[in-house]
Amino acid sequence: MGGNAPGACPGWAGCASIGLTAFQAMALQLGDTVPNFTQDSQLGPINLYDFAGDSWVVLFSHPADFTPVCTTELGEVARLRPEWEKRNVKTLALSVDRADSHKGWIEDINETQCTLVDYPILADEDRSVSDLYGMIHPNSLSNLTVRSVFIIDPQKKLRLQITYPASTGRNFDEILRVIDSLQLTDHHQVATPVNWKDGDDCVVVPSIPTEEARTRFPKGVTEVRPYLRLTPQPNR
Ligand code: BEZ
Repeated sequence: MGGNAPGACPGWAGCASIGLTAFQAMALQLGDTVPNFTQDSQLGPINLYDFAGDSWVVLFSHPADFTPVCTTELGEVARLRPEWEKRNVKTLALSVDRADSHKGWIEDINETQCTLVDYPILADEDRSVSDLYGMIHPNSLSNLTVRSVFIIDPQKKLRLQITYPASTGRNFDEILRVIDSLQLTDHHQVATPVNWKDGDDCVVVPSIPTEEARTRFPKGVTEVRPYLRLTPQPNR
C-alpha cells in the first residue's frame, strides 16, 4: 500500500528542471487539494477520500507507539469525540509502527487515559503517507514522524498545517478553535480576531463593505476603523 508516486506530482518536470527533489516538490500549502492515499490501520485499510466522505478530517502524526506524550494525545482526541462530531470532523492518526502494535498500544491508552480510542491510526510502516505529507523532519527526529496536524475540509482542501516537536504535546482545544473559525468564515463570511474563542465578537471580512455588513449581520456592526468592523458571532 502507499501514496502517489513522486513522479505523478503535477508539474514535476518543471520542479526537476529547477533542481528540486521529488520530496521538496510535494510540500503541501494551504488551499492545495490534499493527495489521496490508501494505507493500513488497526481497523483495516483506509482510503483518505473514502474515509473523509463529506466530513472535515484532522490528520495527525506522532513519533511512535508506546511513548508517553503520544499516549496522552491519543486519549484526549478520543475524549473529545463529541466535539469532533458536533463539527462534522473525523480524526485520523498516523505513526510508522505496525497495525498489530497499534492494537496493543490502544489497550494501554484506553486503560491509562480512561477512554475508548475508536478512530483509525494509520500504520505507515513504509512511510509512504509520511513522505507524501512531509511528516518526517530528519534534522529534528531521525526516521520518525514529528507531530504534524493537517485540517482538511470536505472539498479535500488543506486549511491548516501545524508542526510541533516530538517533545511537545499538542493542544487539541486549539485545533477545535481553528475549525470553529474556519467554519464561521465558510458559512458566515466573518473572520476571528486575536485569541478569539467561541462566543466572542467576530471581524467582518474586508471584502464586505460596511453598509452591506449592516444588512448581512442584523445583530449589529461596530466600525472601529473603516477596515476593522466587529459583529457578534453570527451563529450564536
Ligand atoms: C513521546 O511521545 O512521549 C515522545 C516521543 C518521541 C520523543 C519525545 C517524546
